[in-house]
Amino acid sequence: MEKGKVLVTGAAGYIGTHTAVKLINAGFGVVVVDNLSNSELSAIEGVREITGREIPFVQADCNDRAALEEVFRAHEFCGVIHFAASKAVGESVEQPLLYYGNNLGSFVTVLELMKEYGVPNIVFSSSATVYGQPDVLPATETTPRKPATSPYGNTKQICEDILRDSVAAYEGLNGIALRYFNPIGAHPSALIGELPKGVPNNLVPFITQTAAGVRECLSIFGDDYNTGDGTALRDYIDVVDLAKAHVVAVERMVGGDMKEQYEIFNIGTGRPVSVLELVRTFEKVNGVAVPYKIVGRRAGDVEAVWADTTLANTELGWKAERSLDETLRSAWKWEKHLRGL
Ligand code: UFG
Repeated sequence: MEKGKVLVTGAAGYIGTHTAVKLINAGFGVVVVDNLSNSELSAIEGVREITGREIPFVQADCNDRAALEEVFRAHEFCGVIHFAASKAVGESVEQPLLYYGNNLGSFVTVLELMKEYGVPNIVFSSSATVYGQPDVLPATETTPRKPATSPYGNTKQICEDILRDSVAAYEGLNGIALRYFNPIGAHPSALIGELPKGVPNNLVPFITQTAAGVRECLSIFGDDYNTGDGTALRDYIDVVDLAKAHVVAVERMVGGDMKEQYEIFNIGTGRPVSVLELVRTFEKVNGVAVPYKIVGRRAGDVEAVWADTTLANTELGWKAERSLDETLRSAWKWEKHLRGL
């Protein structure tokens, strides 16, 4: 029997597709909504192929209240996972109103409809970006947030606050914010993965495209940081492990296991990895070369951030499982699938 039906917004995106697969595998019904502004319908096809299920898909913008209300009217949801958001840091600096409008507007609309239709549980996609450069590492959930350095980052902080205040005000509403560190990799089937449009901003898609010959050379942004090899440190979390964290969060809410009505969890591995270490590991496990050059630091980058995952490990009973080797193999397999290599 189905465990309950979950509305997944932004479900055609990178993390959304992987989460939809895990939810279905865990026995949840899934209804997916996406405006396809930064994704392709083929991503939903990938989810159908992996799970062997027909998945109700509605092409709608979460800012379109009338369209979204149709979805709430047509289904009875036990919860919502809200991925739908714009996510390019640089673009958000150039077009702040687009980001505030999209990311805040859609979240408020989703929460209003949940309230109106009595849907009790929501998981929000937050980010380690809320920590900025922490004074003490690793970052725990109580590490103070730093002022955001981009409108994108600010929307994550504001949405967390919107959720905290809504949960405090509206009886019966529960919220979990998952603060993702750096999601990478792809489903082992290589039927779903990250689909960056244009030149990738993020490290791993740039590496895979360089290995595939689509890009000539990777630029490593800075080797003069105060770290072992001078390149920046991040906590790279496998996207399949990350997807599982969402399922566990939904189960916790639906099962009535929350300690507080609003909870926050770091979702990472707890292990810092440098840019150079990541590049070298990718080359080693896949047997391909990634030409790179060292260039200046990228504006807005922090030196080092990684997670203390104790809370997620103990409270959610969730732990990152896939090794970095395995994750980087899956990233390459996905790139090869995309390029027909
Ligand atoms: N990097 C390079 N070359 C590249 C791309 C990235 O050297 O071509 C480096 C970056 O300087 C950084 C590391 O690789 O040190 C990781 O960069 P990503 O862009 O992959 O990830 P970030 O840590 O910068 O980004 C993450 C999230 C964003 C979030 C951001 C805020 O992916 O969603 O943190 O800082 F907004």
